[in-house]
Amino acid sequence: TDDQFKKVISHAKEYGYIFQSSEIYDGLSAIYDYGQNGAELKKNIREYWWKAMVQMHDNIVGIDASIFMHPTTWKASGHVDAFNDPLIDNKDSKKRYRADVLVEDYVAKIEAKIDKEVAKAAKRFGDAFDKEQFLETNPRVVKYQEECNAILKRLGQSLEKEDLADVKALIEELGIADPETGSKNWTDVKQFNLMFGTKLGASAESAMDLYLRPETAQGIFVNFLNVQKTGRMKIPFGIAQTGKAFRNEIIARQFIFRMREFEQMEMQFFIKPGTQVEWYDYWKATRLKWHLSLGMGKDNYRFHDHEKLAHYADAAADIEFKFPFGFKELEGIHSRTDFDLKQHEEFSGKKLQYFDPEENKNYVPYVLETSIGLDRMFLAVFSNSLQEEDLGDGKSRTVLKLPAVLAPTKAAILPLVKKDGLPELAQKILEELKWDFNVTYDEKDAVGRRYRRQDAAGTPFCITVDHQSLEDSTVTIRHRDSMEQSRVAIDDLKSLIEKEVNV
Ligand code: GAP
Repeated sequence: TDDQFKKVISHAKEYGYIFQSSEIYDGLSAIYDYGQNGAELKKNIREYWWKAMVQMHDNIVGIDASIFMHPTTWKASGHVDAFNDPLIDNKDSKKRYRADVLVEDYVAKIEAKIDKEVAKAAKRFGDAFDKEQFLETNPRVVKYQEECNAILKRLGQSLEKEDLADVKALIEELGIADPETGSKNWTDVKQFNLMFGTKLGASAESAMDLYLRPETAQGIFVNFLNVQKTGRMKIPFGIAQTGKAFRNEIIARQFIFRMREFEQMEMQFFIKPGTQVEWYDYWKATRLKWHLSLGMGKDNYRFHDHEKLAHYADAAADIEFKFPFGFKELEGIHSRTDFDLKQHEEFSGKKLQYFDPEENKNYVPYVLETSIGLDRMFLAVFSNSLQEEDLGDGKSRTVLKLPAVLAPTKAAILPLVKKDGLPELAQKILEELKWDFNVTYDEKDAVGRRYRRQDAAGTPFCITVDHQSLEDSTVTIRHRDSMEQSRVAIDDLKSLIEKEVNV
């Protein structure tokens, strides 16, 4: 809900996760900075992805290509011609919108009505409620679903045929109004390219027009043979990469869900032509498993198979996540065929082929791509983890239940009081643990306050040093989620924490 989402945004700021970029100058829309905790969480997500993709697959290697690429890259990839959003202006408010998103938001409202009907029926029928059956047979819900499907189908078809007049007609037929002013006075729909341009070189005559890359994938395609040859890679094999991408997004809202500067984690898997269906299924299943391994709830994910395909794909699905504003795309799995490599062959005049020793012939491989936005994954993790917990007796606590493996700080070391040698022992423990984990020290305020602070910051463990610690070298360890405390030997701390944070 809106309230929940507002809490996510303010909590992210209050606890040093995310700030508006150049905030003192009133910021820039859809551009954000990561603070001291955000940078750690982001790094940990990137590492968690990299380990799963590169370290755990002996046929996947990683690269780090430049943001600037030769401008012909983007002609070959199709981005100069086809990387557009259909925009529509409201003549009264002078506001600009993405035409497809206006329609999708309209559909989302109908979907919300379906959700409401489901919730109502679930309450009425209790344990006997069969959701599948209800969705298939309840006349009102069936009608809503048919309406959604028909609208999305028409939108997909018009966009595919570049029939922008029909997109406008659809908006008018549905009676869609400017969400801010209610005006229905629309201009025609026009295409708008999303790439940011810049210039390379000092003098006006010799300067070369460049683009900031709108996806990291092309850095992998142009290096396909470099990696294959120098790494002596045999098909099937993958190349992975994380890095910044830039898009001049028009609807700049929903916090870090849709940004103008963001980071992608992409992997291109090069395969034998004809095996793409098998690998498409494999990577859909493998990527979903990766998400589920974080324990954020199986029901928060669903697949969405695309009807409308990007210019390069023969099949595509999203893994959608339940964000505070509903199910939305988190990751894409795309069957890209040999489109990109063939295009680069044509535009560069260089062969980008693989000699298959088993088949004894050369071919341009097909490609399966997995592509996830790091910032979007950050939002999924962060929003899912932020909880307001009722502790009974009118008390509650705010707790950020980040998966321990991703938490910025793994443990806080707290001397019970600021005297009697407790701070010194706490510092000594910190000095030992910091070789293995990010740990922090906090001696300010009553210990209860400090626990709450660490709960809200997402720290999975608090280690408290008390007077008994001086006598028998034990401390208490408190678990963020259960709030349970147990007494353990200082010497056992490392292995106890390790068990939880190394997955
Ligand atoms: N190479 C394929 C590609 O770029 P995409 O569906 O355009 O495909 C892949 O983007 C992922 O990148 C998305 O699933 C999303 O997680 C992330 N992403 C795309 N645009 C974004 C934006 N403006 N802000 C944040 N993340 C974005």
